[in-house]
Amino acid sequence: MDTAKYLQKCMEDCCSDQCLFYQHILDTLWEPMVIVNSKAEIVFINKAYLSFINVSRSNAIGKPVQDVIENTRLHQVCINGVSEIDNLQKIHGREAVVHRLPIIVNNQIVGAIGKVNFQDVNELSELAKKLKSMEEKLEFYKKNTSSLTSPAYTFKDIIGNSEHFVQVKHMAIKAAQSDMSVLILGETGVGKDLFAQAIHNASPYHRGPFISINCAAIPQDLLESELFGYGAGAFTGARKQGKPGKFELADGGTIFLDEIGDMPLRMQAKLLRVLENQHVERIGDNELRAVNVRVVSSTNQDVKNKVKLKEFRADLLYRLDGVSIYVPPLRERKDDIPLLVNRTMQQLNSSQKISSEAMDLLIQSEWPGNVRELINIVERMSFLAEDPIITPHHIEKFAPDLLHDETKDYSTQHFKPIETILKEEREETLSDSINSAEKITIMKALKETGNNKAQAARLLKIHRTTLYAKIRKYNINL
Ligand SMILES: Nc1ncnc2c1ncn2[C@@H]1O[C@H](COP(=O)(O)OP(=O)(O)OP(=O)(O)O)[C@@H](O)[C@H]1O
Ligand SMILES: [Mg+2]
Repeated sequence: MDTAKYLQKCMEDCCSDQCLFYQHILDTLWEPMVIVNSKAEIVFINKAYLSFINVSRSNAIGKPVQDVIENTRLHQVCINGVSEIDNLQKIHGREAVVHRLPIIVNNQIVGAIGKVNFQDVNELSELAKKLKSMEEKLEFYKKNTSSLTSPAYTFKDIIGNSEHFVQVKHMAIKAAQSDMSVLILGETGVGKDLFAQAIHNASPYHRGPFISINCAAIPQDLLESELFGYGAGAFTGARKQGKPGKFELADGGTIFLDEIGDMPLRMQAKLLRVLENQHVERIGDNELRAVNVRVVSSTNQDVKNKVKLKEFRADLLYRLDGVSIYVPPLRERKDDIPLLVNRTMQQLNSSQKISSEAMDLLIQSEWPGNVRELINIVERMSFLAEDPIITPHHIEKFAPDLLHDETKDYSTQHFKPIETILKEEREETLSDSINSAEKITIMKALKETGNNKAQAARLLKIHRTTLYAKIRKYNINL
């Protein structure tokens, strides 16, 4: 018997064990499904369809499909053998979305299958709405995460037309276009961060992330896990699934190692290994992870001298210094001062003007804090001066250090980066608070014990001699 005839016979005789088995499978499906023979009589219909149209199985099996299912076209499909996909069919007042497929064996139509994909087209629009809102959310998060990792500044934002500065910018643009590592040198506030961002944005890596890490601001014992990450359960308190380091996060983009001159020697060796092998190994994890990262680093320290003093590895410096960019201090490009002043006033949206005498004073100044200092002082004067024109009088009043600074030779000085100063300040504040809390506790204990030092020491759970030392240290009058 050929297959077509065999199938037709199966459909006629749908009470066999095998047919009951398939019936059971179809009943398990959630989607309503019906099968008709070549005469468009229902031979299978699953529970989902029966409950959808509210008909019992005995009232459906063997009946012409058009008598049982409203607006069906399965009988047409049995004639023309053409599939109908995602058609709308009104059933019980609801617009269902259906497929109708002919069953063709050896070029003969032996029946057809009808399947309801959505019992109500509104489900589809609900689904579409959900999908749209999910897409919108995805877009929002994509934008936000990319704004976290894509830096704002480009070379256009770096102001300066003086000859030397323009040469430096050209060199940086050229370096950006290669994949060489770049070392940015210069005093504090000259714009090293700005250059690093602009280099990334003009580089072949600009579509990737820009990940910055300040080697001076992070405590030494955290620097390794920040840079290279850690494996699952690497130490007590470590996240269960481990954590990628900045190198892994920067994969396909740029890693900016800010204040590299402050990197401890032990970490320098590890960094060198990563740069040479282009692989990172998370702490407590043996897996080598390949990373393709462009390295830009910066420092305001004299790294060459640090190499001489054996405080910086020569081999690491060689790796980092594919191209070095020295950003000149402001006092060496005084022509740029009016430009920077005017741009700052513009950005402040200020209608004030600066008198030519005041501008001359600004030009003559030495600017140890470079552009950062200049911007701060212009902002301060514009904010505090209530007159439409800023004159030397305002400089004298709001920025007196600019006119009376005694230390004029800045060329050999290296200024602490702002992050280091803030960190030191934080530490100082912390130790101040600890000290004053300690002093108060000791004073309370002494008061409670009527200045009996032995009792107070017991109360404080410290040795008597320690208590004497602390009384001296804090100048506590008894
Ligand atoms: N050429 C410039 N044009 C416009 N703004 C500048 C320029 N140079 C520096 N700035 C601004 O000056 C400030 C300090 O710049 P930046 O942080 O890049 O300095 P830095 O060299 O990294 O300093 P540090 O060594 O202290 O980290 C920033 O607000 C920056 O936008
Ligand atoms: Mg910086």
